[in-house]
Order: sequence, then structure tokens, then C-alpha cells
Amino acid sequence: MPHSTPKSPLEARRSAALQGRVRVPGDKSISHRALILGALAVGKTRISGLLEGEDVLNTAKAMQALGARVERTGEGAWTVEGVGVGGFKSPDAPLDFGNSGTGCRLAMGAVAGSPIVATFDGDASLRKRPMRRILDPLELMGARITGEGDSGRLPMTLQGARDPIPMTYKTPVPSAQIKSAVLLAGLSAPGVTTVIEAEASRDHTELMLGHFGAEISSEKEGAHGRRITLQGQPELHGADVAVPADPSSAAFPLVAALIVPDSDVTLEDVMTNPLRTGLFTTLREMGASIEEGAARKDTAEPMAQLRVRASKLRGVTVPPERAPSMIDEYLVLAVAAAFAEGVTRMQGLKELRVKESDRLEATADMLRVNGVKVEISGDDLIVEGKGHVPGGGLVATHMDHRIAMSALVMGLASGKPVKVDDTAFIATSFPDFVPMMRRLGAGFA
Ligand code: S3P
Repeated sequence: MPHSTPKSPLEARRSAALQGRVRVPGDKSISHRALILGALAVGKTRISGLLEGEDVLNTAKAMQALGARVERTGEGAWTVEGVGVGGFKSPDAPLDFGNSGTGCRLAMGAVAGSPIVATFDGDASLRKRPMRRILDPLELMGARITGEGDSGRLPMTLQGARDPIPMTYKTPVPSAQIKSAVLLAGLSAPGVTTVIEAEASRDHTELMLGHFGAEISSEKEGAHGRRITLQGQPELHGADVAVPADPSSAAFPLVAALIVPDSDVTLEDVMTNPLRTGLFTTLREMGASIEEGAARKDTAEPMAQLRVRASKLRGVTVPPERAPSMIDEYLVLAVAAAFAEGVTRMQGLKELRVKESDRLEATADMLRVNGVKVEISGDDLIVEGKGHVPGGGLVATHMDHRIAMSALVMGLASGKPVKVDDTAFIATSFPDFVPMMRRLGAGFA
């Protein structure tokens, strides 16, 4: 586990043009879901391109502990023999999800629909994150929390529902994790479970449930929302899942290529599900050259090749309704904004406060210590872009992989080097980040 190993700092220096073609690792959201749905299905699920980062490996271990047979058969190639909906067994030991909110919250949903008892735990970062948002709907469906106290924080023990109750649930915040937890619990409930979200969040759970044979539909609700309807107690059957490259990981070499002069980088097989591509839209509005190749589809998800060339960027306003489609990308967008000319105002970022760290504060600190003028105003982040970044700062990563990678990207084009205090958590989502960036020409020392 990264939190038990000594800190490994790293410095990023101004680099010559980044060049080359890479495929970043498999999408984290889809990797978690492939393992969980594989565990809930009857028969064999074959996954290719699975992200072998610590977050996903913890989900694999949890599914194994709940009774599924999970096996690695090659690089990124995994098979899961599931137990069927409602078929989990109580694990012998607490399930440790490490740094991963997604793994933990989705597994809570899946456990809530089985008549078993499981204890959930995680690292110091995950232990600080709010779980009430997941427990509220799961309790309405019949699950019970034992030994939680008032905190709504891990560790906690969940008693799954013997007879889960189908329901209609309106998510209080746009969160694919809440939506997915309810849908996964709803699999065991007789009748229809409906989730209504005011702003559409990533729909990988819905798409993958359809792929595994569930009866599920999604329609528009209001201006930006969705209403998702799931027929309970389906027979999920094992399926083949090809995991496309993670757009949230692609974001790092992509922004690096935009800010390091004369760069020309091609990113292969990047997932282009429109509920994940808010960053690409925003960067294009800022003047970024991102050329998208022909789209193709695998396992219900679209993907394409992206060619990115260094670009002169200008500040923009990013509207709040775009946040769900780029919620994990604001850190690296803030880096691009610092290199742009003019002010970038990112609106409606409240949810950033409850990620792996308080990313609103952490992003502002990351920029400030490197000489960028930045302000938090309510839930907005305002970055004053001057076309260049002085650098020279030491960035605190707060057990957050995306802070570490964003700061290192910034250092590739800033005046003085940028140092991060710890790179260990990069392994949660992008274990190959440092060598892959070096192959493109990044100067890390
Ligand atoms: C994820 C959903 C998002 C995102 C996280 C992955 C998912 O969280 O931040 O990294 O796979 O469902 P929320 O749903 O809480 O916004």
C-alpha cells in the first residue's frame, strides 16, 4: 500500500518538445465496473486492457473475498467467474479499498443487495471521505450499517438487505458513484429501481449493465439530467469487456503536449464517451489543437485516437453544468489555465472538496507555490493566466495521484523546476506515468 511506503519525491524540469505515440492505461471507472459486474454475473467474464493500478487491484481482491473467482491471465487480461446477483458470501476479513472511493462505494451498493455482512475500510485519505451519501439510499433499500457511529466515515460494517426494496431515488449531488451504488443494489430488488439525476454523470454502469444482459434504460430529465430505470433480478451473464484508454489519465500527457513548445503527441484508443470529455471541449475552447481520429466502439463505449500539438491557449469560463463530465480533470485544466493568456474561471466545483483530497484548496496551493495568481471564490476557481509559469515550488500531494501528476506536468514547461513531495499515489491510477512521460521526452529527476 502506498501509505505504508516511504515518500518518493520527484522533480519535473523544463523539457524539449514532447514527441511520440502512447496508449495510457485502461479506464479506471470501467475497470472497477468490469470486475464488479463480472462478480455479479453467472459464467465467465473476460476483461482485456484492465487498469492494473492499486485502486482496481483492491476491487479485484474485494470481489475475490466476496466469493467470485478472479484471475490474471496476462498483461491487463483478467477473468472473473461470478456468483450471480445476490450470491456474495460474507468476507472473512475487512475489505480494504485503499485510496479508492469508487471501488468502495460501488462495492457497498453490490453488497447492500446481498444478505451478507462486510466491513469496508481504506487508507487515511478514503477514511476522511463522506460515505453518508451512499448509505442514505442503501438504507432506504434495506441495508443496515452497524458500528458506524455518527461520523459517516470508514471503517464501517454493512449488513446487506435480505429483501431489498426497489425505489426511485433522486441523487442529491451529480455523482456516478451514488447512482451506481443504487443501481447495483437494485439488481437484487424485485421490480423497478429508478435513479434520477439533475445533471448527467458518467453512464458506464448503465452501459455495462446492458452489455451484461440487464434490462436498463436511460432518458433525458430536465435540461441536463437523466432518469435511469433498471428492472430488478436479472440474470447477468458473463461477458467480454475491452477497456479503452482512460481519458482522465490521457489528460496528463495531453496538457503536457499543449504547454511544452513544439510538442506533437498522439494518444491511442482514448475513450470519448461524451460524459467524460468536458476537458477536451474546454481545452478546444481555449485554443488547443486536439485532432480526433475516427471513432470506433468496443463494449458499448466509443474511443478515438487524439493527436495533440502545442498550442497558444487563452482563458475561458467553464460553466458549472460541465463539471460532471470533467470532474477529475480540473487540476490539470488549472495547469493549462496558468499557461494560457487571460483569466480562466471554473465554476461550480464544490464536489472537488470531497475527492482524494480537498482538490479546490490543493489546486490553488499547487499554483500559488509556483508563482501563479489564483483565487477561490465560493465554489469557483479563478486562475490568472500569464502565458508562462515561474515554477520553483514544492507541491504537497496529500495522498492524491492527480495532484502529483498535474504538478509534474506543470514543471515540464515552467521557468524553474517543480517538485512534488510524493509520487507513490500515482500508482493508484497510472502506474506507468513516469516512464511513459519520459518516453515522450519529459525531464523528471
Ligand atoms: C467515478 C465517479 C466520480 C469520479 C471518480 C470516478 C466513477 O466520482 O470523481 O474518480 O467511476 O463512478 P463521483 O461520482 O462521486 O462524482
